Amino acid sequence: MVRKVLFDCDTGGDDATAMCLGVASRDIEVLGVSACMGNLELRQTLRNALHLMEFLGREDIPVAKGSEKPLVRELWVGDKNERPLPIPGLEKLKKQPHQLDAVEFMAKVLRESDTKVDLIPLAPLTNIAKLMMFHPDLVREKVGNIVLMGGAMYFGNVTAAAELNFYADPEAAKCVFNFGMPIVMVGLEVCEKAYLCYDDLEKIKAAGTKPAEAFYNIVKQSLDTYGSRYAEANGEKARVYMYDSITVVYLLHPEIFTTVKAKVRVEANSSICDGMTVCDTREYGVDPAEKTTTVVLDCDREKYVQLVAEILKEAK
Ligand code: RIB
Ligand code: CA
Repeated sequence: MVRKVLFDCDTGGDDATAMCLGVASRDIEVLGVSACMGNLELRQTLRNALHLMEFLGREDIPVAKGSEKPLVRELWVGDKNERPLPIPGLEKLKKQPHQLDAVEFMAKVLRESDTKVDLIPLAPLTNIAKLMMFHPDLVREKVGNIVLMGGAMYFGNVTAAAELNFYADPEAAKCVFNFGMPIVMVGLEVCEKAYLCYDDLEKIKAAGTKPAEAFYNIVKQSLDTYGSRYAEANGEKARVYMYDSITVVYLLHPEIFTTVKAKVRVEANSSICDGMTVCDTREYGVDPAEKTTTVVLDCDREKYVQLVAEILKEAK
């Protein structure tokens, strides 16, 4: 069965690696991409998504412009510097954003699809929260799986408590988890287990396709720039985390992951914990019907690397 998928991204290198997998996989049909601010400002995340689709020869995949700011807060972004993707062709970029904004674009795709569509949110949940607020029935009727990157069970990365995507817009994350649909939450724990090293690069390059080339360039640049920072912190060889890529591998191969069911709520009213995901896995004291989130905690790293290479090879 081919899964229909919508990506919502703050592209960003690791968002791009997720989309490379989605475009490459013969089991996924990418119906569109929406851009959101997050790690970078919207103008950059939009441009990077357009550039990636053009580089991959997938000008047919629409890219829609989404939220420039969080739902209610002042704008916060991880990095205000120029962050183009390490792939050629930016100076010749022709692809333009879709005429509809992200929310109406996603609603149109859902409305027109005769089967369910999976959502893969990889950014602050601003666009997704608006989709749920403006089109709740459509989302309940037409969205299949929601496999998102964000949050964590035990720690944060922007603060001790909060992961970046949820820190950037806690109200949006709160709204999405309170909506009540089942969610797969790829949090920081599993992302740090599924690290990539220089040793893995040859396998990725050997896939020999356009998505593999982009994936390789992104991981190589990231290793050269940040690899030793993580290595020093871990006392290990250079490594990086392609957080967002894990969502696609999970969607296709959940069997390589370890998960736990939880009732997840997001803190949005605290001076030190805003954006924190409180994951209630207790056996007693929480209604099992409210444990609607599958928190992904661990994975078989070797299989993750092998599957990444295999999926990248499937591209036409
Ligand atoms: O915390 C990691 C997340 O923040 C990833 O989605 C990354 O792309 C950034 O958005
Ligand atoms: Ca992201």
